[in-house]
Amino acid sequence: MSISAEETGIIKSILEYCENGGTDMEPALMRNPVTTYTDPENHAKEVETLFRKFPIIMGHATQLPEAGSYFTNDEIGVPILVTRNNDGVVKAFMNVCRHRGARLTDTPCGKSKTFSCPYHKWTYDLNGNLRGLPQAAGFGDINKSELGLVELPAFERFGLIWVRPSADEEGLDMDAWIAPMAEQLSSLGLENHTVFREWSLDRKMNWHLALEGFQESYHFCGAHEHTACSAYLDNQSVWTDHYPHVRHSVPLPTIVDLNDKPVDEWEHRRYFMTQNYVFPCNYVQVMTDHVYIHTIIPTGIDTCIFKCMMLIPEAPKTEKSERYWQKNYDVIRTVFNEDFEIGENIQKGLNTGANTEFLFGRYEIGLHLGTKAIHDALEGRLTA
Ligand code: FES
Ligand SMILES: [Fe+2]
Repeated sequence: MSISAEETGIIKSILEYCENGGTDMEPALMRNPVTTYTDPENHAKEVETLFRKFPIIMGHATQLPEAGSYFTNDEIGVPILVTRNNDGVVKAFMNVCRHRGARLTDTPCGKSKTFSCPYHKWTYDLNGNLRGLPQAAGFGDINKSELGLVELPAFERFGLIWVRPSADEEGLDMDAWIAPMAEQLSSLGLENHTVFREWSLDRKMNWHLALEGFQESYHFCGAHEHTACSAYLDNQSVWTDHYPHVRHSVPLPTIVDLNDKPVDEWEHRRYFMTQNYVFPCNYVQVMTDHVYIHTIIPTGIDTCIFKCMMLIPEAPKTEKSERYWQKNYDVIRTVFNEDFEIGENIQKGLNTGANTEFLFGRYEIGLHLGTKAIHDALEGRLTA
């Protein structure tokens, strides 16, 4: 198993921290105003910017297995239809008919070569082209080629399906956008994985509170005292700034075994849990032998959806492996739940005025980096 220069560097840093008791630190603590979570104007701007102008993970490649496969997505507040066309290319459209706006399909997923609007039966193909309409004479000489479904930028990269939920004039260079993370993401071979479980939770908390639960390991021995705490070194993480994305490496205690091995025999994955933040709301959380993909979407100023896929290298062939993965799934559901219960309780106290700002400690680095990138996007300095 090959290991990248970045991974060798991460291991070197953590072995040094094990030696001297340190961890990565920012030069100063950061103060984040509580209005980030409570101000309706800020929230509206976030939705309009972060959740419209940047690519969001909407599924795994196996969820569009063949030409004609499709799924719909409504969570972001834009009705979206994602298809795989006859050339095998992933396409995304507004799930909105061009005649008088009816929703083309209500089905969460399925297979079809065409989409026929339930209202007056205008029919579109997998590329969104308007193929036909009943009693066309009533529409004179309209140009059908101008009445295709509104297309959204869609991409299949690293086995994941990404969509930008707005049809702005400007295109999106997905390869350039994801380039800082490409080496690591491509090494995972996610396109060869399979979805073991997929779930979606409505939580009563501002989306930032859910996001921040994955941006530091300082809370592991508080919030996850009886679960994740003992599985990792306590608050000793390495942060790799791949602006606007972030790689957060959380070492297992066994990492110290590498002290006895020459560098060219080092392995990386079995010694880390890696929480990759992919701007603005996506995580690729890499465990030693499987991967969680999560997306966090606001549904109001004080509510959000947490959506997660558990990807495993191959579908379980035996009861034993089914049980093994199920156990992992049960544990992660418990751990995530510990985070969300705390997040919902933070939400309850947000409007009390007890805090006007939250403090991001010097080692809560994901909070620093994520918050800076979000500000950059809101203020127009960062675009996809
Ligand atoms: S609204 Fe779709 S065919 Fe009329
Ligand atoms: Fe947590």
